[in-house]
Amino acid sequence: MAEFEMILTETQGCAGIIRLNRPKALNALCDQLMDELAQALRAFDSDPAIAAIVLTGNEKAFAAGADIREMQPRSWPGTYLNDFIAPWEAVLTVRKPVIGAVAGFALGGGCEVAMMCDILLAADTAKFGQPEIKLGILPGAGGSQRLTRAIGKSKAMEMILTGRMMDAAEAERTGLVSRVVPADTLVEEAVSLAQRIGEHSRAGVAMAKEAVNAAFELPLREGVRLERRLFLSAFGTPDQQEGMAAFNEKRKPNFGG
Ligand code: CAA
Repeated sequence: MAEFEMILTETQGCAGIIRLNRPKALNALCDQLMDELAQALRAFDSDPAIAAIVLTGNEKAFAAGADIREMQPRSWPGTYLNDFIAPWEAVLTVRKPVIGAVAGFALGGGCEVAMMCDILLAADTAKFGQPEIKLGILPGAGGSQRLTRAIGKSKAMEMILTGRMMDAAEAERTGLVSRVVPADTLVEEAVSLAQRIGEHSRAGVAMAKEAVNAAFELPLREGVRLERRLFLSAFGTPDQQEGMAAFNEKRKPNFGG
């Protein structure tokens, strides 16, 4: 893994861990940080020893949004000609599961990057919000779309038009996160989730991730068709043979890839 200044990386078993690490700026997402994040995600995605990736911040902030100091001098048409958000989509091109583990603030672009993750765990200290309206702008990395799909139109509209924050309990109640855990166990829980995913067929997991994510992109009929194609092609993997043989022989499966 390359040397980074604004993120920290480590591995625990088959979990690759990326920590956003600009604590003085509450992990504000500047161009350099997002470039480093994309590099680290690509490196873990292509590392056969890694089954799933945990993306987290520190106890104060997952990330308090795009870097407002860096954005202030930006103007149109420069922003149009050089879309500084486009590289953020690197998070969406990862084929392995990405587990977002949020403690503290996940605001603006921070909330949007969190919502690009496949599974979101929240510490009881987490606070989510899209406060861009207070800066005279609006969400620009998918917040208006992903938050609305996650929590529904009325609540998303309220949050985006007022900039109010949502606490961890509300985030769980509304389906934005899958679980709330005590802050001091957040990363441990996320790593253990990554390791549980890592016990399963790599190909099966990648296909399942692709199928679930398609639900956000495709009409129902097309989504079901894609799922069926993936499901039927899973019968071409050695892991299908192994998983079903192990069930019938009443033993633990030994998935090879
Ligand atoms: N960009 C740059 N710096 C930021 C930042 C951001 N998004 N958020 C916080 N910081 C910096 C602060 O400027 C401050 O730096 P200094 O110590 O050098 O002054 C440091 O982080 C600590 O912040 P605060 O002193 O403000 O901490 P606080 O605990 O009083 O408040 C907060 C915390 C409520 C999160 C507040 O920092 C805040 O409102 N931050 C901005 C949140 C925001 O508006 N995010 C959306 C950005 S726009 C966007 O993301 C666009 C998009 O959709 C892609």
